[in-house]
Amino acid sequence: MSRGRGRDQRPATQEREQRLLTLVPDRIERYAMAHTTPLPPLLEELVVVTHERFGRQARMLSGQLEGTLLQMLIASMQARRVLEIGTFTGFAAQMMAAALPDNGELITCDIDPKAIEVARRFFERSPHGDKISLHEGPALETMRSLEPPFDLIFIDADKESYIAYYEEALRLILPTGLIAIDNVLWSGRVLDPKEESDRAIVAFNEYVSRDQRITNVVLTIRDGLMLVRRK
Ligand SMILES: C[S@@+](CC[C@H](N)C(=O)[O-])C[C@H]1O[C@@H](n2cnc3c(N)ncnc32)[C@H](O)[C@@H]1O
Repeated sequence: MSRGRGRDQRPATQEREQRLLTLVPDRIERYAMAHTTPLPPLLEELVVVTHERFGRQARMLSGQLEGTLLQMLIASMQARRVLEIGTFTGFAAQMMAAALPDNGELITCDIDPKAIEVARRFFERSPHGDKISLHEGPALETMRSLEPPFDLIFIDADKESYIAYYEEALRLILPTGLIAIDNVLWSGRVLDPKEESDRAIVAFNEYVSRDQRITNVVLTIRDGLMLVRRK
C-alpha cells in the first residue's frame, strides 16, 4: 500500500498522533506521516510518556511532520545556534538538536516544572543532549539575557506574548536566519476569534503582515507554522 517504511510499522504512534493538532483530514495527516522519515525510538518513547503524563495537553507536541521540517531547515541552512521558546517535554528541542553539528547549541526555555523534569530526563538519554541547554523561567527574561546571533528561532509558547517574542527574536536572529512561529492558524479559530488567545494570534498575524522589515509565509502544516526572514 505504501512505499518502504509504511505506516503499518508504527501504528501506535499514529493512533496517538491523531489526537494532536492538525488542520487537514486525519487520513491525509496519517499518509503524510507514513511517508516521512520515522522518529527515532527515544522520541517515540517521549511521545508515549508525554501522553501518559499530560493527557490532552500532549497535543502541544509539535510532532513528527513539523519536527522533521524544522530539522530540514536547520540542516540545509547549516545552522549552528538555535533558540526555542517553549520546551514542553523537549520533543522539538531534540529534533532540532539532532540536525545541529557537534559544536552546535540549542537553547530552550519553559516555566512548567513538570514538563521540564520530563524534558531533562530525556535530554540526558539523547545522543544530542550535550548540545541542549534548558533555561527554567519566563521566556521573555531568557530572551533578554541572550546575545545574538541565532540561525533559527522557534517560537512556541504562550500566544499572548507572541509579538514580544517576535520583536526579541528579530533582535537575536542573524540577517540570514529564520524565525519559525507555531500555531498561527490556531485550529482555524483565527477566522472567528472569541477568546483572548484567539485574538492574540490574530493580532500577531496582522502585526507581522504589516511589518516592512521582513518577508513571511504561513504554512498550513499542523496548526499553522509561519516562517519569517529579514528582507
Ligand atoms: C506548545 S508547548 C511547546 C511544545 C514544544 N515546542 C514541542 O514542540 O514539543 C508550549 C510550552 O510553552 C510553555 N510556556 C508558556 N508560557 C511560557 C512563558 N512565559 N515562558 C516560557 N515558557 C512558557 C508551556 O509551559 C509549554 O510547555
